[in-house]
Amino acid sequence: MAKVNENFLKLPGSYLFSTVGKKVKAYQEANPEKKVIRLGIGDVTLPLPKAVIEALHRATDEMAVQDTFHGYAPDLGYEFLRSAIVKNDFADIGVSLDVDEVFVSDGAKSDSANIQEIFDPASRIAVCDPVYPVYVDSNVMAGRTGEYDAATGRWSNVIYMPCTAENNFAPAFPEETPDIIYLCFPNNPTGATLTKEELQKWVDYANHKKAVIIFDAAYEAYISEENVPHSIYECEGAKTCAIELRSFSKNAGFTGTRLAYTVVPKELELEGVKLNALWARRHGTKFNGAPYIIQKAGEAVYSAEGKQQIAEMISYYMNNARVIYDGLKAAGYTVSGGVNSPYIWLKTPKGMNSWEFFDYLLEQANVVGTPGSGFGPSGEGYFRLTAFGSYENTVEAIERIKKLG
Ligand SMILES: Cc1ncc(COP(=O)(O)O)c(C=O)c1O
Repeated sequence: MAKVNENFLKLPGSYLFSTVGKKVKAYQEANPEKKVIRLGIGDVTLPLPKAVIEALHRATDEMAVQDTFHGYAPDLGYEFLRSAIVKNDFADIGVSLDVDEVFVSDGAKSDSANIQEIFDPASRIAVCDPVYPVYVDSNVMAGRTGEYDAATGRWSNVIYMPCTAENNFAPAFPEETPDIIYLCFPNNPTGATLTKEELQKWVDYANHKKAVIIFDAAYEAYISEENVPHSIYECEGAKTCAIELRSFSKNAGFTGTRLAYTVVPKELELEGVKLNALWARRHGTKFNGAPYIIQKAGEAVYSAEGKQQIAEMISYYMNNARVIYDGLKAAGYTVSGGVNSPYIWLKTPKGMNSWEFFDYLLEQANVVGTPGSGFGPSGEGYFRLTAFGSYENTVEAIERIKKLG
C-alpha cells in the first residue's frame, strides 16, 4: 500500500502571506474607497532591463531557425553564462573560480530547498531566527528536523540562532555543534549584513567544526558598504566549507523569468567525497537545464548596458529604502536594515506584537507590511517593509505613517 511522506504532514503550514492577503482583501472589501499601499511584498516591480529584453528577443528569434534552434540545455548551464558569472561576479572581486564550480538553475528558492539532499539525513542544521522559511521547511520534508512545538514555533532538532537588536541581528555561534549552517546576508527579513571580519569568523568556525555553510547571497547586489562581502569566497578558507547561492531575481528583476546559480567549490570535501561531484550528479539527474533564452537573458545582465541599467534599478529601490528608513526614524521608530538591503526591519511601537501592528498599520494608514513573527519566534515584535514599491507609493506610505504620531 502506498503511503505518503509523513514528514510533509508535520509542516505547520505557512499562513503568513495567505493571512496577510486575506486581511487586506477583507479590509478593501469593507473600505473600497481607501487606497491601500503594499510595502509587504518581496517581489520586484520594475520591468526587466532593456538589455535583457533585447537578449530575450534575439534568443527567441534564434529558436525559430533550424540552424540556431536550441533543445535541452546542458544540465549544469551553458558555458557562455557560466564564464560570464565566473568573470563578473567573482574574478572582478578577486575570487578565482572554475566554470565547473558554477551550477546554473531556475532559482535560489529551488537551490536552497534542494541542496540539503546531498547531506546525511542525520545532519543537524542551524538557522537564523527569523529566517527565510525555505531552509527549514525543505529539511522538514527530508525528515531532519524532529518534532514541531506550536507553543514555541520551533523544531526539536533544529539549532536556532536568534538574531535580535541585542546582537545587531547577527547570529552568535550556537552552543550545540551544527553540521549545516544556513546564513543569508544581506538578510531577508532583517536587512542586516555581516562585515567581512564577521563572516571570516563563521568560515573559520565551520572549517574548525567540519560543518558546511550554505551562504544565500540573493541580495548581494544591494550591498552599498565597503566592508560587507559580496561573496563568502572573499573570506580565506571558504572554499573548503561553503556553498554559495545566487539569484538573478532581486538584482535583475528575474523573479518571473527564473534564473539563479549555485557555487560548489571543488575543494569542498566531506570524508574524501567532493560535494561538487555530488551536486553535479544530483543536478544532472533532477534538472534538465534552464532555458536557452533565459540563460541568454542572464548573459545580458553582464553586458556594459545591462550593468548600467541594473545599477539604475538597484538605486531606484535603494532610494525607496532610504525614504522608508529616514522617514520611520524621523517618526521615532527603531529601524534597521535598508542600507545594504531592500528590507527595512522595524521594532513595533507601543508594545504591540507583530500582528497587532499589522492591523494597526492597515486600518490607520492603509499600509501593508509583513509581521516579523511570520519569519520565526525571534521576529515577534518586529515588522518588515520592503523597498520594492513605486517611489510615489513609498513616499505616500511613509507620510501616512508619520501622521499616525
Ligand atoms: C533569502 C532568499 N533566498 C532565495 C530567494 C528566492 O530567489 P529566487 O527567486 O531565485 O528563487 C528569496 C526570495 O525572496 C530570498 O528572500
